[in-house]
This record gives sequence, structure tokens and C-alpha cells, in this order.
Amino acid sequence: MTDARTSDPGNAAPAIEVRALQVRRGGAPALRDIDLTIPRGSITGLLGPSGCGKTTLMRCIVGTQIVESGTVTVLGQAAGSAGLRKRVGYVTQAPSVYLDLTIRDNVRYFAALYGRGHDAVAETIDAVGLTTHVNHRAGDLSGGQLGRVSLACALVAGPALLVLDEPTVGLDPVLRADLWDHFATLAASGTTLLVSSHVMDEADHCENLVLMRDGRILAHVPPDELRRRTGRSNLEEAFLALIREQKIGVEP
Ligand SMILES: Nc1ncnc2c1ncn2[C@@H]1O[C@H](COP(=O)(O)OP(=O)(O)O)[C@@H](O)[C@H]1O
Ligand SMILES: [Mg+2]
Repeated sequence: MTDARTSDPGNAAPAIEVRALQVRRGGAPALRDIDLTIPRGSITGLLGPSGCGKTTLMRCIVGTQIVESGTVTVLGQAAGSAGLRKRVGYVTQAPSVYLDLTIRDNVRYFAALYGRGHDAVAETIDAVGLTTHVNHRAGDLSGGQLGRVSLACALVAGPALLVLDEPTVGLDPVLRADLWDHFATLAASGTTLLVSSHVMDEADHCENLVLMRDGRILAHVPPDELRRRTGRSNLEEAFLALIREQKIGVEP
């Protein structure tokens, strides 16, 4: 069984290194002068309101976004390099699975592509809470269930870096808690996770938070540091306090 995490040739580069990144979308700046370093084996929450640039930044990291200037380096290689294909997993906000296949066959298909065995298939389906539905056709599932199949297809590959765009939206609280437990297990075994959300209520599951607004990074801090810095125990309020403090929001 090959595992992208163990086939890393001793490379000690950070998981993600972004320098002076500028991106325009729809004729307007979507990312403005982004600098960001994310260490390996951690969970980072990418947080900020809708339209602030989270998906655009993730697209840059997985190499599907045209950038205006700056550099994005992933596991020591330029973002989007062929060498990263099996080492980076990306789950978009719109689920992409084979609707005519069952859940098990979807996950098996991705497991086969990445050389993972049956144990990994069962374990991953369990982690996303779909064990009771393994034989259901993906086309018969609800939107939330489809999203979880999509997530399972990325998880089963065992990538060194997992980029997850709002993976817990619309999931029930028990399942969300289970998924965060699974993410923590992955991080403990060396996987790097970058997880976006437009709400702050799961931020405490992350070791570090990247707080975005209007295409900029306002802060890159652990949750407790954000609380300390703003004097607010509630992270939603802390984020708001940070925005007010920096008086951002008057961009052209
Ligand atoms: N396909 C697109 N074409 C043009 N502009 C886009 C497109 N997708 C996003 N944008 C713009 O880029 C900015 C950042 O969007 P996005 O990265 O999707 O934000 P988020 O993921 O935080 O909601 C927004 O101003 C949005 O309107
Ligand atoms: Mg988005």
C-alpha cells in the first residue's frame, strides 16, 4: 500500500508557502498581497465571510486558479505540479462523484486509483458516517450525503495535504464532531489539513486560524491567541473585534 505521507523524500518544506499572491476574478481583486506559511501535520481553519476569497485561495493552492503575481509552493513544489497530483486532495463546495455508482464503488474507485486497500475504504466510509448507506447509489442521496461521499473519495487517497472547502456545511452536529475527530487523527499522523468555513463555530477544532476579509489575511493565529488579543472569549465576536480594530472595509 502506498501512502503519500510516507513517500515524501525527506522534504522538510512547509506544507504551503504563499508569497505576495495577487489574484483578480471577474475584473476585481480577489486576493490582495497574500503571504502565508502553513506547517505540516496541522489543521488550519480558513475563515471569513462569503466572497472574501477562501475558495480562490484554495484554488491557488491546488493549482487550478490563474494568478496575477506571486508564488504558491506546496510540499516544496510549485502548486499544481504533476508531482503533487497524488499528494494533494481537494474537495470543492460542489460535490463531484459518480452518480450511477454506489457509495462503496465511488470510494473503491478512488482507493484503487491511489493504491489503497479495502480496509481504507471501509474506514473512510465509516469516518464520514455513511456505513449504513454503502450500497445506495450516489444519485439517490441528499446533498449533504453527496458532500460526504466526495469527502470520502478525497480522504481515502491518504494525501499529505487535504484542502477542504466548507466540508461541514449542512451536516448534523454529531456528524460534524465525528468528522473533526477524524481530521484530528489525520493531522496527528502527519497529514496537513486546510479547512474553510464562513462561520466561526468550528474554529476551536483548528490549531491555527487564517482570518480573511476582502481578499486579505487579517490574522493568522491560534484560537486562544485571537481571544487574548481581542479580549473576547466568543470567536465570532473576536473576529468582529479584529475587523473593527483594523478598520478594514473601506477598500475601493
Ligand atoms: N467564477 C468567478 N468569476 C468571477 N468572479 C468570481 C468567481 N468566483 C468568485 N469570484 C469573485 O471572487 C471573490 C472571491 O470569491 P471566493 O473565493 O469564491 O470567496 P469565498 O470562497 O470566500 O466565498 C468574490 O468577490 C467573488 O465575487
Ligand atoms: Mg467559497
